[in-house]
Amino acid sequence: MFLSNPSGLTVSQLIERYDTRSPRYTSYPTATRFTPAVGAGQAGAWLKAAPLERSVSLYLHIPFCKRLCWYCGCNTRAMNRRELISSYVKLLLREADLVLAQVGRPVRVGSIHLGGGTPNMLSPTDLEQLFEGLSARFDLRRCFEIAAELDPEVLTPEWVDAAGRIGLSRASLGVQDLSPRVQAAVNRPERFDTIRWASEALRGQGVSSLNLDLMYGLPLQTVEHVVTTLGQVTTLQPDRIALFGYAHVPWMKPHQKLIRDEDLPDAGMRFAQSQAAARYLGAKGWQAIGLDHFALPHDSLAAAARAGRLHRNFQGYTTDEAPVLIGLGVSAISRTPAGFVQNSASERDWRASVTAGELPVARGVALTDRDIFVGEIIERLMCDFVVDVADVARRCRQDMSEVTGTWPLLRRFRADGLVTVDDGVVEITPSGRPFVRAVCAAFDPEATGLVQKHSRVV
Ligand SMILES: C[S@@+](CC[C@H](N)C(=O)[O-])C[C@H]1O[C@@H](n2cnc3c(N)ncnc32)[C@H](O)[C@@H]1O
Ligand code: SF4
Repeated sequence: MFLSNPSGLTVSQLIERYDTRSPRYTSYPTATRFTPAVGAGQAGAWLKAAPLERSVSLYLHIPFCKRLCWYCGCNTRAMNRRELISSYVKLLLREADLVLAQVGRPVRVGSIHLGGGTPNMLSPTDLEQLFEGLSARFDLRRCFEIAAELDPEVLTPEWVDAAGRIGLSRASLGVQDLSPRVQAAVNRPERFDTIRWASEALRGQGVSSLNLDLMYGLPLQTVEHVVTTLGQVTTLQPDRIALFGYAHVPWMKPHQKLIRDEDLPDAGMRFAQSQAAARYLGAKGWQAIGLDHFALPHDSLAAAARAGRLHRNFQGYTTDEAPVLIGLGVSAISRTPAGFVQNSASERDWRASVTAGELPVARGVALTDRDIFVGEIIERLMCDFVVDVADVARRCRQDMSEVTGTWPLLRRFRADGLVTVDDGVVEITPSGRPFVRAVCAAFDPEATGLVQKHSRVV
């Protein structure tokens, strides 16, 4: 299999050269630059100074699951004690009070995202009480989107009814792979019938945009498994499909050690799986969005991609343009124009801080002008595969010399046919798209020192 690139390298050789470990760039600076030097005091000052003319986005993290899938990279744990989940919800609202006390002004919310973990581990009563509490605290009159990440195996008709009452408009269902063999290798049994029921029930209750999460690169997974799974799930006509490459980082997520290294597909197999999926979905009418998303042409994500208005945040690709994100809950990240802050990833510490009336912030990073410049370059590359560096420099009032170190690195990508560089415009070629994270890393001064901390590029 040959690509037409100037150096004539095969796909396998390109993978060998560029399948280094790079950040997923859901933010820049990446979370590895967050430090405890930024704490609750700084977070409070940034919230107070945050611009609130435009609506803010709210993210609420629910760190509970029915059981732990062995591949999981999320911040969560298996927990089925109803009373602990209910008390968590009450503390989320206390945390909202602490944030609002810092802001000191009314806050208008444009979108709410429940992430996890598994937000449908909340009982229907917990869910409705959470939303009653949020509407008593925030101005939700112009809230255009309420989204939740859901585990279909845990979803009940009662929960779906409650979702209808709170106005859930967007749902994301975890599917991963439907082959029993792969499911057994990752401790996640799940039936297609359940996913079909969940999709139909949620749509019946007003969910107008449905996303399904799939994965490739899982243990024992083959191209055939990926395509067979796609064949089934596309019959449900999901508005969006996310196809994540399994990030195997057992040094950060020790439960991933339950996955046997010898069962994992190698880089070439992962590449073949992602390419086969992209071909299959393209032929069926889903538009490729950025690195790992697909959307039907009517969907807002597809429209944003076509218009060059796609963004990237901690949930992946998004249409959200709000300058302020308030994250509530264990490990949640908040963003203001001045910087990022992250809550404690320890549930015990988070509960203790909120109960004591303190913002549960553990770490963060202040944004420099250079960070904003580099962040904008990386976001455009991740979203559009092309960036006019000179134009970004002008808009960020930065000097091009801030990224001069990047050009020699890009020469190699160019020689291998992965990028073109023309008058300050860097464009990733179709063959270069799978390696976009490696190209972004060339602009990221910290990336070279972080080789072992991240997951594979492909
Ligand atoms: C919060 S879960 C989705 C909702 C629910 N907990 C579930 O699993 O059905 C977020 C998604 O992240 C993806 N994911 C989890 N761990 C991952 C990993 N190590 N590498 C890549 N994607 C991962 C899965 O596709 C998963 O559906
Ligand atoms: S993939 Fe979803 S259900 Fe599985 S452990 Fe992770 S968050 Fe929980």
